[in-house]
Amino acid sequence: MQYRQCGSSGLDLPAISLGLWQNFGEANAFDQQREIVLAAFDAGITHIDLANNYGPPPGAAELSFGRMLATDLAPYRDELIISSKAGYRMWPGPYGEWGSKKYLRASLDQSLKRMGLEYVDIFYSHRFDARTPLEETMGALKYALDSGKATYVGISSYTAEQTQRAREVAADLGFTLLIHQPSYSMFNRWIEEGEPSLLDALDGMGAIVFSPLAQGLLTKKYLNGVPDDSRAAQQGSFKTDMITNEVVDRIRALDEIAQQRGQSLAQMAISWVLRDPRVTSALVGARTVEQLHDSLGALENLEFSQSELDAIDTYAVEASVNIWKGRSR
Ligand SMILES: NC(=O)c1ccc[n+]([C@@H]2O[C@H](COP(=O)([O-])OP(=O)(O)OC[C@H]3O[C@@H](n4cnc5c(N)ncnc54)[C@H](OP(=O)(O)O)[C@@H]3O)[C@@H](O)[C@H]2O)c1
Repeated sequence: MQYRQCGSSGLDLPAISLGLWQNFGEANAFDQQREIVLAAFDAGITHIDLANNYGPPPGAAELSFGRMLATDLAPYRDELIISSKAGYRMWPGPYGEWGSKKYLRASLDQSLKRMGLEYVDIFYSHRFDARTPLEETMGALKYALDSGKATYVGISSYTAEQTQRAREVAADLGFTLLIHQPSYSMFNRWIEEGEPSLLDALDGMGAIVFSPLAQGLLTKKYLNGVPDDSRAAQQGSFKTDMITNEVVDRIRALDEIAQQRGQSLAQMAISWVLRDPRVTSALVGARTVEQLHDSLGALENLEFSQSELDAIDTYAVEASVNIWKGRSR
């Protein structure tokens, strides 16, 4: 594993981190989940990313990870960076989502309980909430730090402008935001766009970019239809209507470039998000240990020539995969 400094902080994160958003719910066999997480840790993936609502049902991934901590990982607690988040719907009523202090505080306590932890290493505001004063949402993150329930805090899917404001409010309150967690892939390049772009607005914060494979689209699996065991077949967060003929043609072209680089397409997709030094870590998902090992192979070739980047740019354009856009209020 290679470790990269998270912004200007003292914390290093693995270049590839593992997220438990999907494949770690009640419908997935615990043994399979455990095998993936232990394979990740054995490979030097010291960072496991969770959120209150990962499952299904919401909370299931944290419960499952808590079980792995109890059975296997507890002795290695100090070798692990464990994150959780709150922002999306977690329980009924007005205090079960968004950015109030009431919700964030209660949700963090619930996450700790599910995982059997005294603290998480990173606690995130999962999405921006314009209805709640930023002072209140940032105040809730400060509470997480001051209470010792989180070692660091971060924000997820905030725009460049929201990020700058959040950083200012945090500074006024006397703390710093460690990290931003945005979506980013060859088919979803919003963090590069705008003046300033989100990457420009980080200004000392680290970035861990999620769904670098566009939920599996940036692999070869959809070149000849939709496999039964794939995420798209479930028609949940990844709808088959994202797989248009035009997108499949672009995947084919990108796969040819990957082959010339001696990589699988998944590996090139991960290497590509890591080409910018402001990106600390690529946050991948995995359904099997084999997928995880394939993804880890990205680290063997992180360099791109200018002609490779130019060739990739021809095909690495928006493909309507950013389902997180517009989920703030
Ligand atoms: N902050 C946020 O709002 C937010 C939102 C979403 C995700 N996240 C974080 O980001 C993490 C990753 O998200 P993601 O799962 O969408 O990431 P991803 O890496 O883009 O997609 C993972 C999926 O791609 C397929 N795959 C993975 N490796 C493969 C390989 N080497 N070859 C072929 N297929 C491969 C698998 O799908 P199949 O089942 O189809 O094989 C796998 O479940 C989440 O677990 C979560 O921690 C955060």
